[in-house]
Amino acid sequence: MTYRVIPVEPFDYVVFGGTGDLARRKLLPALYHRMLDGQLPPEGRIIAASRRQMSDAEYRAMTETALKEFVPQDAREEEALQAFLKMLSYRSLDAQKEEGWDALCAELDEDPDRVRAYYLAVAPTLVDELCRRLAHHCLVTPKSRVVLEKPIGRDLASARKVNDAVAMAFEESQIFRIDHYLGKETVQNLMALRFANTLFEPLWNSAHIDHVQITVAETLGVGSRGSYYDTSGALRDMVQNHIVQLLCLVAMEPPDSFDANSVRDEKLKVIRALKPIDESNYDKLTVRGQYRAGAADGGAVPGYGEEIGAAKSRTETFVALKAEVANWRWAGVPFYLRTGKRLAERVSEIVITFRAIPHSIFPKDSGIISQNRLVLRLQPDEGVRQWIMIKDPGPGGMRLNYVPLDMSFAESFAERYPDAYERLLLDVIRGNQTLFMRRDEVEAAWAWIDPIREAWDGDGAAPAPYTAGTWGPSAAIALIERDGRTWHEDALS
Ligand code: BG6
Repeated sequence: MTYRVIPVEPFDYVVFGGTGDLARRKLLPALYHRMLDGQLPPEGRIIAASRRQMSDAEYRAMTETALKEFVPQDAREEEALQAFLKMLSYRSLDAQKEEGWDALCAELDEDPDRVRAYYLAVAPTLVDELCRRLAHHCLVTPKSRVVLEKPIGRDLASARKVNDAVAMAFEESQIFRIDHYLGKETVQNLMALRFANTLFEPLWNSAHIDHVQITVAETLGVGSRGSYYDTSGALRDMVQNHIVQLLCLVAMEPPDSFDANSVRDEKLKVIRALKPIDESNYDKLTVRGQYRAGAADGGAVPGYGEEIGAAKSRTETFVALKAEVANWRWAGVPFYLRTGKRLAERVSEIVITFRAIPHSIFPKDSGIISQNRLVLRLQPDEGVRQWIMIKDPGPGGMRLNYVPLDMSFAESFAERYPDAYERLLLDVIRGNQTLFMRRDEVEAAWAWIDPIREAWDGDGAAPAPYTAGTWGPSAAIALIERDGRTWHEDALS
C-alpha cells in the first residue's frame, strides 16, 4: 500500500470532556496513531479540559493507560508515545463556572494565529454553555473550529436550538458536526466507486437498480449507556444520522466537485426528497422492535428492560424502514433500512441489487440466474464485492455460477485498519468539512424522522419483541418479503 503522509499545520486541540470515555477510547488513540504516521507536528498541542482536578502529569499518566488499552501492542512505540504525551496538558474547567477560563485563554494566547479546534466531547446539555464561554472569553479566533458530537437535538425543534446556540459563537464554516460513519474507509470508497469510475454511474438509477438495502447490525446491547439510550432509541441514535447519511451517499447526484458544500448540497437534496412517512402510512413502512433475553456475543444475555433496569420501557432497539427517494433517478426504488442491537451478527453494509435480466437464453438446467449485486461492506471485513454470473470452468455444458469480484480492503490494510476518527480529527485541523454534516442536513433529517416518531408515539404500541441473537422481529422480515425480496444475510456474500 502506498500511504501519503501529509503533515498538518501546528494546532491547538482543546478537548472538553478530556477525561471521558470518547476521549480515552477514540480521540486520544486516533491522534496518537496519526502522530505515529508522522502527520502531527511536534509543536501541536492537545489541551484536555474537564471538571476534575488533575495535574498535567496525572493526565499524561491517564492517557498512557488509555493508550495501552485502546492501541494495539504492535502500534505502541516508546519514542512516539513519549513525544505524544509531551503534546498533552490539562486544564480543570467547569462550563458553568468562571474559574480556570483565564488560564486557558493565557495558554491559547501564546500563539493566537494557530488553528484551534474545540472538541465538545461533553453532554449535549453543556454545548450551549460552553459556546457562550468560548465567545465571552474571546477564544473564538478566525482560525478556530468547533467539533460537535451527536446527538444534535432529539427532534427538529431541539436540534435548531443547539444549532442556534453554536451559531452565536461560530460561523457555519467553523462548525464540524461529526458523523463518524462518514470517516469509515468503505463509505469514502463509495464515493470513489461512484465518481471515479464510468462503470457504475450509467446504471445508477431506477432503470437498472431493483432496490437498495442498508443494514447496520450490532451484537452488543446498550451496556452502560442505558440512561442515554432509553431516551433515544434506534431511530434517533442510528437512523437520523448514520443511516440517512449512508443513504445520501448512495442516492445523491454527482456533485460538481469534492468540495464540502458541493457534496453537502447534493446530500441535502436527497434528504429533502425522502417521501414522508407519517401516521397515514407508517404501519406499512416501519417496524420497531426490542430485544428480549437470548444468546449473543457467545453467551446468554438479558433482555433490554432488564439490562437497563426499566422493565416497562418502550424504547426501540431495532428499526426497519422502507424508504423512497422521490425524484427522477430513484422513483419506485425501495431503500430498505435496518439497524438494531443484539442482532445475530455485527455487520454494516450497503447492498445494491440490480434488476433481473429481462430474458434468459440458457436452458433451465444451466442453473439459477441471480440478480447482480454490489455489496459495500463497512465492517467487519471492509471491502466491496460485485456479484456477477459466469460459466463454471471445465466440461459439463453451460453451468452458470454466481461469483464475487472481490475488492477486499483487509489485505491492503494488512498492518492496521484506520479508525474513522483519525481522518475526521485531522480534517478538522485542515478545515475540510466534506465529511461533516451541515446544519441544514441535520435539520432536514430530523424533519423526516419526526413524523415517524410521532406516529409511533401516537399509537402507543410496544415495540415488537425479538430474541437477542436473531435478526429482529418477524415483522421486519415480512416488511421486505411482502415485496418479493429478502434481507441480505449471508455474511460471505
Ligand atoms: C453510535 C451510536 O453513534 O454508533 C451507538 O450512538 C452505536 O449506539 C455506534 O453503537 C456504532 O458505531 P460503530 O462504528 O461501532 O458501528
